[in-house]
Amino acid sequence: MAKVSIVGAGFMGKTHGSAYKELEGSEVVAVVDNVAEKGKKLAEELGANYYPDLDQCLKEEDTDCVDLCVPTNFNLELTTKAAEAGKHVLCEKPISLSLEDADRMIEVVKKNNIKGMIGHVLRFWPEYVKSKELVDSGKLGEPLFGFAERLAVIPDWYEGDWGLDEAYSGGVPLNLAIHDMDYLLWLFGRPSTVSAQGVSIPKWGGIVHISANIEFKTGKSALAEGGWAFGGDFPFTMVLRVICEKGTIDWLFRAGKNIEQRAQKSMVYVYENSGNTYTLDVEQKDPYFLECKYFVDCINNDRPIENATFEDGRAAVELALAAKRSVYEKKIIKL
Ligand SMILES: NC(=O)c1ccc[n+]([C@@H]2O[C@H](COP(=O)([O-])OP(=O)(O)OC[C@H]3O[C@@H](n4cnc5c(N)ncnc54)[C@H](O)[C@@H]3O)[C@@H](O)[C@H]2O)c1
Repeated sequence: MAKVSIVGAGFMGKTHGSAYKELEGSEVVAVVDNVAEKGKKLAEELGANYYPDLDQCLKEEDTDCVDLCVPTNFNLELTTKAAEAGKHVLCEKPISLSLEDADRMIEVVKKNNIKGMIGHVLRFWPEYVKSKELVDSGKLGEPLFGFAERLAVIPDWYEGDWGLDEAYSGGVPLNLAIHDMDYLLWLFGRPSTVSAQGVSIPKWGGIVHISANIEFKTGKSALAEGGWAFGGDFPFTMVLRVICEKGTIDWLFRAGKNIEQRAQKSMVYVYENSGNTYTLDVEQKDPYFLECKYFVDCINNDRPIENATFEDGRAAVELALAAKRSVYEKKIIKL
């Protein structure tokens, strides 16, 4: 039974908390948040102890792992504390805001021989997973081009509005479009160049919309588009399209203002060049549940983390930072 301490009782802390509640083989023993009211409320809901900081939690609580759901700029400090105390770490994406921090996090995980995983949830999202399985099966021939899009309203839930400060969240490239960049790296492998255009509104977090053209070492290419400069009730939108030699995978998903309607079904279509059209048989399971389950299963069975590793997190940050540079410097960046 993996004893979990959730650090950060905001949007993601609550989402992960609900996942662990449903998950056999795990128990949330502690919730840590420097805003006592929020931390105590989630702790009560999960039947866990509340702590105002991770130091006290690590000193007093019998815990196997920590699940970091805090503003990105705290990831290095809190991962280091947890790893040095011998606790496994699931850390929300992005791993960091700089490659230096990502390298230090990878180092500290290795040195302390703990398991480290990054919350790159698309690697556990059933429709994205099924689409990758189809591509990998070779049934549609080689993947030639990918398009992955993520659009949302301006985040309004962040505690203290940290998400709207580029210095804390990295803006859309590191905070939002990184999901799609990570998925495209998972699908196509190492990138060679990125050329991106974007819109920057400093008071809304820096780059608020980005369109990043990625070339991969294989010679294939993809476009990652993401933005949060939408108002009103604009629905959270995800699109995935993979054009392959023998057909195209196509998925459009709209999930309510803040992904609250993510359980609703939206078919993944496959359009084969032969004329055959069909939908993929996708199991309806909450992606955050599946992500937390993978982490907990690795701990309970002492298996290494092989998907959404800290190294995967670093690769996504490297691409997102390069895309950002490309927007600001108006040039193609080599990776
Ligand atoms: N995977 C996804 O789909 C997804 C979606 C949203 C956010 N995220 C990620 O989740 C993380 C948290 O985002 P959020 O939306 O939950 O933010 P949030 O602002 O809603 O919650 C963050 C919480 O952390 C607490 N906190 C801040 N500093 C702390 C510290 N040093 N120690 C303990 N608690 C601290 C805050 O009080 C707040 O309650 C970020 O890394 C973000 O990128 C991922």
